[in-house]
Amino acid sequence: MWLSTKAVASLDRIFRPITSWMPPKWTVKRYSNGRNAFLEDFVEERPDRVKVPSLHNVEVWGLKFRSPLLNAAGMFKTGAGYELVARQGAGAFLAGTTTARPRSGNRQGELVHPFAPYPRSGAASNWLGLPNPGHRKVARALARIRRADGCPVGASVSADPGKDIPLEKKLEDLVVGLRLYEEGRVDFIEINESCPNTEEGESTFEDLEARLTYLAGNFLAQRRRPVPVVVKFSNDTELSQVPRLLDTLINLGFDGVNFGNTTTKYRRVRKELSKSEVKLFDFFVKKFGGGVSGRPLRESSLYLVSFAAEHLSGLALNREFHIIRTGGVETAKDLKDSLNAGASLVQWYTGYFGAFARQGHELYQKLYEDYSKPPE
Ligand SMILES: Cc1cc2nc3c(=O)[nH]c(=O)nc-3n(C[C@H](O)[C@H](O)[C@H](O)COP(=O)(O)O)c2cc1C
Repeated sequence: MWLSTKAVASLDRIFRPITSWMPPKWTVKRYSNGRNAFLEDFVEERPDRVKVPSLHNVEVWGLKFRSPLLNAAGMFKTGAGYELVARQGAGAFLAGTTTARPRSGNRQGELVHPFAPYPRSGAASNWLGLPNPGHRKVARALARIRRADGCPVGASVSADPGKDIPLEKKLEDLVVGLRLYEEGRVDFIEINESCPNTEEGESTFEDLEARLTYLAGNFLAQRRRPVPVVVKFSNDTELSQVPRLLDTLINLGFDGVNFGNTTTKYRRVRKELSKSEVKLFDFFVKKFGGGVSGRPLRESSLYLVSFAAEHLSGLALNREFHIIRTGGVETAKDLKDSLNAGASLVQWYTGYFGAFARQGHELYQKLYEDYSKPPE
C-alpha cells in the first residue's frame, strides 16, 4: 500500500460521511474489500512507543496490565498485531477469535466478509462469520511474542459453529485448542459464547450450562498453570439472566465475564442511527443480518456491567472473578464510567478505529491525557 494506514484512515474519515449518499451495495463492497487489505498493512506498522502513565496500572488475576484498556476480539484474528498495540500504549493484546478448523468466513456472491460503517452514528455492522486460521496456527504465533512490560497476551476462542459436527466433538476440539494456548503461554483466554454471525442457532440456558460444565471439567479443573478463562456473552443478554449466568460461571471455576458482543436488536439500533445512515443499515440487515457494534451498545454494556458488579458485591468470593466491559467505548469518560461501574478491564473495537481515524497511533496517549483532565 503506497499510503500509510494512518493516511488511509484519515482520508477515510473525510470520505466516510459521504458514503451514506452512495448506493448501499457500493459502500458495503468498498468497505468489505478494503478492510482486510487495510488490516494486513496495519499490523505491520511500528509507531513510536507510548509511555503509559502509572496511574492506569491495574493488577488483575495477579497479572500486571499497564492500563485496563485493550482491543476487543476480532481485530487481530491471525495473532499478528502485538508489537503495534504494545507501542500504541494498549493495556494488553487480544488475538482471535479462533476455532479448531480454519474458517474462510462468510461470503455472498463477490462480497467477502460483509461490513458497513455508520461513522456519523459511531457504529458499524458486520457479518464476517468468524474467519480465522485455526487455534493451532494462532497459538504458535502467540507463543513467539516477546512481551512488553505490563502488556499481557490473550486469546479469544470459540467452538466450531455449524450443525455438521456433533457437539461432543466440537467441545473436545475446543479443549484441544485451550490446551494449545495454555502451552503457548498466553496470559488469559476468552471464550466467545456470543457470535451472532455463524450458522449456529440459538441455544437455551441449559445447553449453555452443559457446554460450560464440560469445559470446566475437561479444561479448567485440569489446567497445568492458572491461566484465567473468561466467557464473553452478548450485549443483548437480558438483565434478569445475569445473576444466574454469574453464579454458573463462578460455581464452575471461570475467572470472569465479558459483556459483551454485538447486538442484533435492529429495531432499537435503527432508531438511534443518524437518519442519513438508515438506508445503508436497512440494506445490510435485509441482506445479511449481522451484528451491530459501537455507540448503540454503550448503554447496554454499562448496564450489564453495573448489574453484574452489584450481584458480585453480594457474594462472598474467595478468589478473583472479574468483569470486562466491551461495547460502545470511545472516550476517556467511557473508560472512567466502566471502571466506576465495576469493570476491571475494558475492550474497544469500533471506537478504536474511530479514534485511529482522528488521532492515528496516538489514540491511547490522547485518551490517557483526556482521562487526567478535570471534567468540563
Ligand atoms: C468487524 C468485527 C469483527 C468482530 N469479530 C469478533 C470475533 O471474532 N470475536 C468476538 O468475540 N467478537 C468479535 N467482534 C465483536 C467485538 O469484539 C466487540 O464485542 C463488539 O464490536 C462491541 O464492541 P465495540 O462497540 O467497541 O465495537 C467483532 C466486531 C467487529 C466490528
